[in-house]
Amino acid sequence: MSELGGAQVLITGAGRGLGAALAFELAQQGCLPILAGRNLGALRTIASEIGAIHGMNVPIVQIDLANPKSVSSAIEVLRADGRPIDVLVNNGAMWLEASDEDHSDEEVASVINAAVTGTFLLTQGLLPILRRSARPDIVTIGSISGLPNAALQSASIPFYAAKRAQAALAEGLSQVLTGTPIRSMVVHPPYLDDLTHGTPEWEAASERQKGERATIRDVVDAVIFALTRPRHVALSIIVDADNGGVHHATT
Ligand SMILES: NC(=O)c1ccc[n+]([C@@H]2O[C@H](COP(=O)([O-])OP(=O)(O)OC[C@H]3O[C@@H](n4cnc5c(N)ncnc54)[C@H](OP(=O)(O)O)[C@@H]3O)[C@@H](O)[C@H]2O)c1
Repeated sequence: MSELGGAQVLITGAGRGLGAALAFELAQQGCLPILAGRNLGALRTIASEIGAIHGMNVPIVQIDLANPKSVSSAIEVLRADGRPIDVLVNNGAMWLEASDEDHSDEEVASVINAAVTGTFLLTQGLLPILRRSARPDIVTIGSISGLPNAALQSASIPFYAAKRAQAALAEGLSQVLTGTPIRSMVVHPPYLDDLTHGTPEWEAASERQKGERATIRDVVDAVIFALTRPRHVALSIIVDADNGGVHHATT
């Protein structure tokens, strides 16, 4: 069991992609992942796969970060449950690609609300639970799109703005939480290749060479690295890659 062993970690957007991979890796390190997301079927599938491998009962909670009512219901469920939460990973966010067509009202509202409104409300609502932990952490998954002066690349302007705001949330939390035991950390991924945890492709990902794209595994590794630093250290990590990274040429 790693030094993270025993931690209870709530992950948003845990039904697929990075959130699911993080849940598998944290379970392997002896943590209890608590899976949050919109799609209950997807959450149940991931929970039962992790449960079968590690013999644990993996809790799930439904949350649509773009809908404040859904966020407050999820907070109520988590508070009523009385379960400790040591780490909150703000991973869930809606991707919206640039388009020559106008973006719809709903697309724009969903992108902004999931990344900003819902992420903030959930974090604020869970602070009383995190404050009871002996090792409380908040990790926000941003994006290189959210860095100052970032190139848009293929991101839409609403996604770009939402990720910039999400970086500001992590920074604001870090300021407000200075002098308390809670760390607010952020990991900014570049464009990623999707991988499934535990597959041969997952195992081979750490052997990629400079010039190749980053993968979901690189972000999982960065989150684990940040969480396992001594508690007086809080990291903001930019995961970069030549292909799909900060300086990737789009023309
Ligand atoms: N993949 C990349 O290239 C990349 C690059 C930079 C940053 N990131 C960031 O990394 C994080 C994980 O993304 P990903 O790589 O797994 O791919 P993704 O396709 O961006 O996945 C988004 C995740 O967020 C969830 N989500 C979206 N809207 C939501 C909402 N309203 N409420 C709750 N959950 C919601 C999705 O769940 P559903 O199944 O319900 O849609 C999914 O689990 C995101 O914050 C993303 O912005 C990803």
